[in-house]
Amino acid sequence: MSVLSGKKILLGVTAGIAAYKTAFLVRLFIKAGAQVKVVMTPAAREFVTPLTLSTLSKNEVISSFTKEEDHKNQWNNHVDLGLWADLMLVAPATANTLSKMATGNSDNFLLATYLSAKCPVYFAPAMDLDMYRHPSTKESFEKLISFGNVMIPATSGELASGLSGEGRMAEPEDILNFIEAHLAESLPLRNKRVLITAGPTYEPIDPVRFIGNHSSGKMGYELAAAAHAAGARVILISGPTHLPNPHKDIHLIRVQSAREMFVAATKYFPSVDIAIASAAVSDYRPRISAAQKIKKTSEVMELELVKNPDILATLGSGKKDQVLVGFALETENEEENAASKLERKNLDFIVLNSLNDKGAGFKTETNKIKILFRNGTLKKFDLKPKEEVARDILNEIIELINE
Ligand code: CTP
Repeated sequence: MSVLSGKKILLGVTAGIAAYKTAFLVRLFIKAGAQVKVVMTPAAREFVTPLTLSTLSKNEVISSFTKEEDHKNQWNNHVDLGLWADLMLVAPATANTLSKMATGNSDNFLLATYLSAKCPVYFAPAMDLDMYRHPSTKESFEKLISFGNVMIPATSGELASGLSGEGRMAEPEDILNFIEAHLAESLPLRNKRVLITAGPTYEPIDPVRFIGNHSSGKMGYELAAAAHAAGARVILISGPTHLPNPHKDIHLIRVQSAREMFVAATKYFPSVDIAIASAAVSDYRPRISAAQKIKKTSEVMELELVKNPDILATLGSGKKDQVLVGFALETENEEENAASKLERKNLDFIVLNSLNDKGAGFKTETNKIKILFRNGTLKKFDLKPKEEVARDILNEIIELINE
């Protein structure tokens, strides 16, 4: 999956001959899983039609402050658009637009949107070689870079003027690769290895029966997906679930029992930076797992259970400089029990969800958590989809790492 998957990209097209290449660029962004909206300078419409770009981007293309046609008195909102974007790319960026961006001029919709955008802005210059090396153009580049914008340098080659030299807009594939590499570099969990346990465990009674629980594994799988999206290399150790691997680059190890999960978790723990135990591990297992199916010969049947190893506590006792996070699902004395688990299992923080909260816990799509830290701080979160809860938990881990 591309780092651009799910990202909202605002493409600003200005009046250079390379504007025709933005049709390919939009297609590449869409293929990478991004959402794309296009804004154009009025002159850019001479180089590539808004119809082409709106068809490819599946969104309306905007090039003026007012909605044309029927809605003459309605404004296009550059502020909303600027805030919508996760990243903005101006390509091709002419010398004229770059100079205006550098001086804060906002005499067209694209420029006003640029000024409103809070997201990272990339620009891919395209112009004739003498314009490209003119001191005033160079000054625009430098100024824009000093504002935190990112330049995707032009390449050398044949130019629209017939001359040959530096000034050709980077090819669409190269622009895509540049942005992907740049984003990957700034991901907060880049170069980090994360281990996550997820799902229930099944403790065999005989070849067809087991002791299990209602955990769907959803929270752990969302954590794995979010950690991967944040740039981490993820090992997901999962008990039996119906969920597919969130991403092909996630190393998914499927296990059945607590003991199998224990073996996998303790094997990988020494090599990771972060471990999150979200699995609902069965605390006990049948002392004997019958080799053959147990027949119903007696009226009463007794099952002797023995304690399973505590995976998280074992990781906690062997912890070096890893960040270690556990979960607690409580029905009473929540905070007190969570605090004791935090201490006993040597965790950096514990995520607390209570079965008393509607929409939280097993088999739900949402979760409502509290996080208890070692220093006693308790942070409360709203009821949210598990995908967002996963991001909240990772953000707390990222903060701890950066402390
Ligand atoms: N856990 C684990 N291995 C176990 C049991 C629990 O790794 N054998 C982990 C869970 O993944 C969770 C945390 O420990 O992150 C809390 O589990 P929980 O069952 O709530 O706590 P216990 O320590 O088992 O305490 P109790 O059953 O008394 O509530």
